[in-house]
Amino acid sequence: MTDNSPKTAETRFDGNRPLRLAVLISGSGSNLQALIDASQHDQAPFQVALVISNRADAFGLERAERVGIPTQTLSHRGFKTREAYDTALAELLRAADPGLIALAGFMRILTPGFVEYWQGRMLNIHPSLLPSYRGLHTHQRVLEAGDPMHGATVHFVTAELDGGPAILQARVPVQANDDADRLGARVLKQEHCIYPLAVRWFAEGRLRLGSDGRTQLDGQPLDSPLIIDAST
Ligand code: GAR
Repeated sequence: MTDNSPKTAETRFDGNRPLRLAVLISGSGSNLQALIDASQHDQAPFQVALVISNRADAFGLERAERVGIPTQTLSHRGFKTREAYDTALAELLRAADPGLIALAGFMRILTPGFVEYWQGRMLNIHPSLLPSYRGLHTHQRVLEAGDPMHGATVHFVTAELDGGPAILQARVPVQANDDADRLGARVLKQEHCIYPLAVRWFAEGRLRLGSDGRTQLDGQPLDSPLIIDAST
């Protein structure tokens, strides 16, 4: 009999079998690159087992292919509904049997059924200090608001867009002469630090989504995300 029930995050790293990570992208894949680089260190507790893009021209596909990581393109064009797309996506993922999915610039809204199936086993990185600035154009919106601080958040994915329990944030001070590109570049650099760190914690069994819906690190629920302050 096939067990279709969601698995719990039983992922404690035993030193022999790295966690299989599937990474979903739509574009450049610089966060994917950071994850690949981290996975190539000795004793890394995770390996990038599969990269899926909804765009055939995503540069991240090349990043994966040049180090021999299997890739798949699943274009959203041709699917009539989000549900149909997500069903096809779920089939690709199940065949690869990942222990964790990392959304890394995957610019699609996922359906509640898909998210529920992977709940507790799917992370996202978002370029803002959530819960502020969900959605798009975060750097420009922060500048327009005159905020002194910006950043990025790694969080568990729930059906609420950019609304799942936060894990780790990098804070980046806004500088007087910033434009969206300059600010975004500094935020992205921090994303490349915090995403591999959170994935590592998950792969080591230190990080999980508790049954109360709160993030747990080392068995302790987090009341707020852990914060890393960037100096620039
Ligand atoms: C990153 O800044 C990531 O946080 C953002 O897209 C960029 C992807 O860059 N994700 C979102 O905005 C999702 N809401 P990358 O392709 O170079 O990793």
